[in-house]
Amino acid sequence: MKWPEHGGQPDLMKKLLQAEEQEVLDFSANLNPLGPPEWLQGELEEQWEKLLCYPDPNYTFSTSALAWMERIHDEEMLLTNGGAEAIFLAAKYFEGKRAGIVHPAFSEYERACRHYHLQVTDFLTSPVDDFRLPMNQLLEALPDLDVFFLCRPNNPTGVVIPKAEIKMLLAQGLHNHTFLVIDEAFVDFVPSESLTPLLKEFPNLILLRSLTKMYTIPGLRLGYMMASEAVINEMKSFQVPWSVNALASAIAPLLLRDREFVEQTFRWLDGQTWKLRNFAERYDFYLSNTSVNFYLLKDNRSPDKTETLFTFLYQNGILARHTHNFKGLDGSHLRLAIRSEEENDKLLAILKKWRERD
Ligand SMILES: Cc1ncc(COP(=O)(O)O)c(C=O)c1O
Repeated sequence: MKWPEHGGQPDLMKKLLQAEEQEVLDFSANLNPLGPPEWLQGELEEQWEKLLCYPDPNYTFSTSALAWMERIHDEEMLLTNGGAEAIFLAAKYFEGKRAGIVHPAFSEYERACRHYHLQVTDFLTSPVDDFRLPMNQLLEALPDLDVFFLCRPNNPTGVVIPKAEIKMLLAQGLHNHTFLVIDEAFVDFVPSESLTPLLKEFPNLILLRSLTKMYTIPGLRLGYMMASEAVINEMKSFQVPWSVNALASAIAPLLLRDREFVEQTFRWLDGQTWKLRNFAERYDFYLSNTSVNFYLLKDNRSPDKTETLFTFLYQNGILARHTHNFKGLDGSHLRLAIRSEEENDKLLAILKKWRERD
């Protein structure tokens, strides 16, 4: 079977599995099930007339508002058409140079690097040691690279690399003129791990963000990049004019201001993660050391039956995310979203059924 590149495509999976009649709960997309915030639809309706004019090409108001919230200068902030555009802009910045990618990681870093003819070196982390960075290997490779792409919290593992290790890489990178591009698309779920304060200390740091995940707005396309003024100026020169639509730009500050929605998300996530961990321990499943709204799963007792487990879940109405296109995993685990309590309970009941059929 030719597995899809990304999660969140239940109709395509149904076609591939020739089971178009099957009702499934989509656990393959890692979006916040509490979102979008209730007020969003009304706000979009109210602001729809913004579509009748070109957006301000510099997004002055929203850029300033986001910079203020992140406590950085306006000149260090660039609004983007989702996190995806930020990834491609970052790759363009290093066009033709040498990049390192730490895997398993979101597949678009590699695609963007290839698109801009970067010479890519792969580094692998492993479930055996909780996906820790191979620090010695990375520090040794750093002088020969222009940029490292890292995902923190990482997709697909949910693991957060310790801040101390990032600082070590940045300090060494400063010495060797190597940049770190760190994708923080999921950091909204663990804001204490945000690396924004490090921007002051490390001009070789480029941070990428997405509003897609926390606020469940994959169709709106909204993200941003934070870096030194010099880097942002150059990135701006590559960006397609009016890349971010007027509605997305108008909505960005309102989303970030909604603290109650985010607090509610933390409460839900804490409770559900706790329950999942208990279940995994009790029924002998591997669950990655996640800090966010998804995790990797594998049956410890049948580690080579992940594909059978995928099919079993599907037949029972649960669509998981395969990991065939994540280097270092190559299909060995499933990635599952943490969804509403009711949906998670359904998943756990089906996993229990899987266990009991042994
Ligand atoms: C780690 C990571 N970064 C960036 C993106 C892209 O996000 P966006 O929808 O904002 O372009 C994704 C989407 O799955 C992702 O998983």
